[in-house]
Amino acid sequence: MTPVNKLTEAEINPLQSLDEWEDDVLERYPDPESIATSRKTEEYRNYETPGRDTVKEFYRLNHTYQTYDFVQEKKNDYLKFDKKEMPVWDAFQFLNQLVDDSDPDTDLDQFQHLLQTSEAIRADGHPDWMVMVGLMHDMGKVLCLFGEPQWAVVGDTFPVGCAYSNKIVYPEFFSNNPDYSDERYNTKYGVYTHGCGLRNVDMSWGHDEYVYQMMKNHLPESGLYMLRYHSFYAWHREGEYDHLLDDHDREMLKWVKLFNPYDLYSKNPTPPDWSKLRPYYQELADKYLPAKLRF
Ligand SMILES: [Fe+2]
Ligand SMILES: [Fe+2]
Repeated sequence: MTPVNKLTEAEINPLQSLDEWEDDVLERYPDPESIATSRKTEEYRNYETPGRDTVKEFYRLNHTYQTYDFVQEKKNDYLKFDKKEMPVWDAFQFLNQLVDDSDPDTDLDQFQHLLQTSEAIRADGHPDWMVMVGLMHDMGKVLCLFGEPQWAVVGDTFPVGCAYSNKIVYPEFFSNNPDYSDERYNTKYGVYTHGCGLRNVDMSWGHDEYVYQMMKNHLPESGLYMLRYHSFYAWHREGEYDHLLDDHDREMLKWVKLFNPYDLYSKNPTPPDWSKLRPYYQELADKYLPAKLRF
């Protein structure tokens, strides 16, 4: 197996753009009726050839290299938050360096996706902290700008340190993961105990956990669940890992499910008019966020 620190460029960035992963999720979970929109699923994509091969390669790498040890290493590094400090609006500009030209859907940058998500939440009359969740939920993708490979930033997340669910996309690739044949990690419970609660479970490393840790002192618990588990499709869409949940997780699941359609189905080719929206969001950020965000 290639050590993670000897990856080639193709192994660092198998996707042409991070959106290829999200488009693939949309194909797996096409259910736009769940929020008020008349757009049809097919309208969200117009790739002639969907990025299936690159997405498959992406998951091969993700499932091979996201080991229990890899996650500990990333947590030790990133959860120090000693990389950067920026006012929130500068942070969106920083995130937008991830602009990509290869998405034929919308030509929208990262910030527009965040704004469309938050605006869809606001339009449905949800509490303002949930609007804030919409605005911040993908901020963790700045991990790419700190040099992390795509498969350590995006992709469906899953528990590490215990057996993998076969409801996780491309489960066959887990046989490449060293943890798969490590008896500390390959049993049903692995390093965990029955009903230990997701807060005690390490997820594969990516933008969800990172943004949760960034926001954890600033938003209500239900919003933090939305951030932390929004890519944990095996749980919130497939109902897996019940044996690790506690009652609090079961209570919070409804919030994670409430958020997901806004993330998946709010993409629209018309960018929101930021100049009109700015005063509202300025006030919202002042209410919930510290003057500077730490990365
Ligand atoms: Fe996300
Ligand atoms: Fe998103």
